[in-house]
Amino acid sequence: MRLKDKVAIVTGGARHIGALYAKRLAAEGARVVIADILNGEEVAREIGSGGGEALALKVDVSKEKDTLQMTQETVDKFGRIDILVNNAAIFLGIKRRPFYEISAEEWDQVSAVNIKGPFLCAKAVFPQMKKQLSGKIINISSTTALQGTPLFLHYVASKAAVIGITRALAREMGEYGICVNAIAPGLIHHEGMNAPKEFTEFQLKARSLRRLEAPEDLIGAIIYLASPDSDFVTGQTIVVDGGNVLY
Ligand SMILES: NC(=O)c1ccc[n+]([C@@H]2O[C@H](COP(=O)([O-])OP(=O)(O)OC[C@H]3O[C@@H](n4cnc5c(N)ncnc54)[C@H](O)[C@@H]3O)[C@@H](O)[C@H]2O)c1
Repeated sequence: MRLKDKVAIVTGGARHIGALYAKRLAAEGARVVIADILNGEEVAREIGSGGGEALALKVDVSKEKDTLQMTQETVDKFGRIDILVNNAAIFLGIKRRPFYEISAEEWDQVSAVNIKGPFLCAKAVFPQMKKQLSGKIINISSTTALQGTPLFLHYVASKAAVIGITRALAREMGEYGICVNAIAPGLIHHEGMNAPKEFTEFQLKARSLRRLEAPEDLIGAIIYLASPDSDFVTGQTIVVDGGNVLY
């Protein structure tokens, strides 16, 4: 168990990829907080029945009050915060359309969750990590930002911002022993995904490793960045996409 006695918060951990992060961090010994606007109780129960410890909290990452409450409740329950996975995002609900059809309101909604969310969560956990003189913040970007994938400009811009946030936060938090890194997944296949067939085929052809990407493919990078193995790694973005984007 590589994360024994560590405490991890996974935002957007109630379903799909975030739920898998929560379960696998718990399997490595971490006590896990699932912070989501959706109900994360089922994931927490599953972790509990496997012998782990988890707490599900209702959190809107775009609201500072919620992120401060999340930090407080995590510390009250588990006493510390070692790992923050900024995974929550508006993604699945986005309708792909040309940039000139994206409304200013939708742009603001995506930015509020996908950019302001990671900022607010990092800001909220910082005092605790600073006190501990250690911490791991893992931000979830996307290869769409590196490829310039068309037809959801607000999402692509938000995932590019995540890389900038990662780099600048790494420099600001380094003196307190806090590592800040990002993961850029490729197109992942899970039960909630409904990517157009042509898009999936295009991605598949462009990959060095010619198979679909599964949520499980991200776990090695998550555990590495959460564990002491990466203690001298910060400000980096690890692309996990089967060798499509060579970054
Ligand atoms: N699926 C892919 O192909 C893919 C590829 C690259 C990156 N990603 C990124 O991986 C992450 C997970 O994606 P997913 O496919 O599991 O999508 P998803 O939509 O199932 O997961 C997003 C999670 O964030 C939560 N969330 C949304 N708004 C929130 C808010 N305001 N506050 C708190 N929680 C909120 C959702 O409820 C959900 O649980 C996202 O950051 C996504 O951008 C996904």
